[in-house]
Amino acid sequence: MRPQSYAIYDSACKVAPGGVHSPVRAFYKMGIAPLIASHAAGDMFYDADGHGYIDYCCSWGALILGHAHPKVVEAVCDQVHKGSSFGLSTEAELALADRIVELVPSIEKVRFVSSGTEATMSALRLARAYTGKTAIVKFSGHYHGHSDALLVQAGSGARHFASSKGVLEDVIKHTYVLPFNDIRACRQFLQEHSDVAAVILEPVACNMGVVPSSFEFLQMLREETLKAKALLIFDEVITGFRLGVAGAQGLYGILPDLTCLGKIMGGGFPAAAFGGPSEIMDRLAPLGDVYQAGTLSGNPVAMIAGSCTLDLIKAPGFYEELSQKTDLVVHSLPQEHVRIEKRGSLFTPFFSNEDIYKRFFLYLLEKGIYIPPCAHEACCISSVHTQEHLEYTRDTMLSFFRDCL
Ligand SMILES: Cc1ncc(COP(=O)(O)O)c(C=O)c1O
Repeated sequence: MRPQSYAIYDSACKVAPGGVHSPVRAFYKMGIAPLIASHAAGDMFYDADGHGYIDYCCSWGALILGHAHPKVVEAVCDQVHKGSSFGLSTEAELALADRIVELVPSIEKVRFVSSGTEATMSALRLARAYTGKTAIVKFSGHYHGHSDALLVQAGSGARHFASSKGVLEDVIKHTYVLPFNDIRACRQFLQEHSDVAAVILEPVACNMGVVPSSFEFLQMLREETLKAKALLIFDEVITGFRLGVAGAQGLYGILPDLTCLGKIMGGGFPAAAFGGPSEIMDRLAPLGDVYQAGTLSGNPVAMIAGSCTLDLIKAPGFYEELSQKTDLVVHSLPQEHVRIEKRGSLFTPFFSNEDIYKRFFLYLLEKGIYIPPCAHEACCISSVHTQEHLEYTRDTMLSFFRDCL
């Protein structure tokens, strides 16, 4: 069925561990050789054998405008011709920083990095320096990238690892893992532990499937972290600019001390950021005593792609339309077979066991529909998913429930 893709994968296995450069891409849980992407446009991508797929992974949430959006492509090509990296400050950095500060209510100053992992890792370092404390609190099933301190009971591809070999006990002994959405346990913990520098969470968890915080849970975290003189960090690498221009913090009306961003803000290029009030952010070098740096941080191509993307998502009705598109796919799915959790344009079909998700994935793939190759990720919809493709997806999902369960 996919001879060219198999041949590429086979060769890739000889020169890269598992043939991939990020584990979930290997499709191990789906029991098939991975797709090898070739090119894409709008809501579809094509594999190396020329098969097209309607894309509900959207580069793990990064592509809110779909693939190769003409305005992003034009802006990026223009920048590439002018130079793709300088290792110097650029006006493109200022332009994206201005947009982020304008849109995200808790951010007064921002520092660009290249990945979500760097953003969360650096935010923790800053929180420890600012508070003078050591411990951090994270929540079971939440994924914040693969830095040592956060690779404990994580979600996403790390879900089946308690931690990872190579991560020192000495490092993770400072990471407390608490149950998500458990108000009583978390309040008690924060009241009893004075050594906590920061509490980090995905305000709408997306790496254990989509699981939103309750409002009361976030409110409690805000109150208790203030009392405990710990920083509250929202990891909005997925939810930032996805759940609205102001992300999850805009939706809940609860502001963290630090926010981590990634994915959408890079417009499909490697860019991420962390930000917060000047008082905290100015502890970073060169002004302050917290070292943090990056050769490609603020890369102008990524900055331009990000600015272009943020300009387009500000269009009136953008998020309402995204949510309606998502409803079109998920609303008529039969609740006796699947529980759908949806927030905005993110959704997860929860089945009673992972084997059904695998069958669902394989069935859809054969019909030209691609959802994440892992049961614990979020499906995403872009602004360019067409009515025809959404209806086709809904009908194909319905035929799975009718014919295969
Ligand atoms: C919530 C969250 N935080 C952090 C990360 C890490 O980002 P990156 O893969 O860019 O390092 C991810 C990646 O999926 C994520 O979903």
